[in-house]
Amino acid sequence: MAEKVMQAVQYESYGGGASGLKHVEVPVPTPKDDEVLLKLEAASINPVDWKIQKGALRAMLMPAKFPHIPCTDVSGEVVEVGQQVKDFKAGDKVLAKLSTQHGGGLAEFVVASESLTAARPYEVSAADAAGLPVAGLTAYDALTEIGGIKLDGSEPKNVLITAASGGVGLYAVQLAKLGSNHVTATCGARNIDLVKGLGADEVLDYKTPEGVSLKSPSGKKYDAVINCATGIRWSIFDPNLAKNGVVVDLTPSARSMFTFALKKLTFSKKRLVPFIVSIKTEGLKHLAELVKDGKLKTIIDSKFPLSKAEDAWAKSIDGHATGKIIVEP
Ligand SMILES: NC(=O)c1ccc[n+]([C@@H]2O[C@H](COP(=O)([O-])OP(=O)(O)OC[C@H]3O[C@@H](n4cnc5c(N)ncnc54)[C@H](OP(=O)(O)O)[C@@H]3O)[C@@H](O)[C@H]2O)c1
Repeated sequence: MAEKVMQAVQYESYGGGASGLKHVEVPVPTPKDDEVLLKLEAASINPVDWKIQKGALRAMLMPAKFPHIPCTDVSGEVVEVGQQVKDFKAGDKVLAKLSTQHGGGLAEFVVASESLTAARPYEVSAADAAGLPVAGLTAYDALTEIGGIKLDGSEPKNVLITAASGGVGLYAVQLAKLGSNHVTATCGARNIDLVKGLGADEVLDYKTPEGVSLKSPSGKKYDAVINCATGIRWSIFDPNLAKNGVVVDLTPSARSMFTFALKKLTFSKKRLVPFIVSIKTEGLKHLAELVKDGKLKTIIDSKFPLSKAEDAWAKSIDGHATGKIIVEP
């Protein structure tokens, strides 16, 4: 029987940016025993996807091989299941996080591990679900696991979220407000109303002197900072932190690793903690339920068809998205 083929977008070497992406026809993958085959309805781009293409994670063997079909955050319909799959059947609508090393999201079909697949409630659109895995869970885990921020309203604290208009930041603002925390946020002038509308108590334009200083207009000292921006020095965070304040750094650099080590070695109460998210299916389920219940929204910057995936890629590299960039096969 003739092999089934699909449209996909892949790159064949490091570098090249958007022009390194090629449209190809490749075989539809076959699910292993513990995998599901998905017909994709939406995928979202995260900065890590194009950082991998740049070679930033080469030392961690990413991507696993060339050619590589990028993107890991997807939503679609199950069309086939492996022999050991228990929780899903053909026809189920799901969201999934694919392996960072192997990717696969910029395609019409992909195989996903059952252990990183979650049911998508009927009320949640494919695009809204595809935005959730990396960005949503980074926001959730950075706030709760490292930031010590409660999301049930039991112990409100003061939180600063930098680059609050990005994919991670917009989820972080909404999640922090679910717990009645006081949120200070930074973003560009054009997004101040959006970020306030999602609940931020005070918003600083990051291009003004007040925004650069990160000082809370109401004089709050931050218990936790979710740092979605890059290039902000410890000396800027330090005077704005509460006695035991922690900066959760989502884009660890040599300088932030040094600050992390220094604060640890000197038993400093104020800390900087580099953080890399680790996705679990319970987290995917929980976020999808929050969206279903109207407690969390995916803010979509733009949608592109798979035939224009390179435009979506270029937009993410440009660094000025407001929320998530979605590709729809
Ligand atoms: N550690 C992890 O596990 C993890 C997971 C997810 C993401 N990340 C990292 O976290 C960072 C944010 O990711 P993302 O998906 O949210 O990125 P993103 O969606 O591309 O962020 C773009 C937004 O950031 C704003 N921005 C950029 N620099 C800013 C600054 N200095 N102050 C305030 N706003 C600023 C931009 O506003 P303007 O357009 O107005 O400039 C734009 O709206 C990236 O470096 C990413 O790699 C890490």
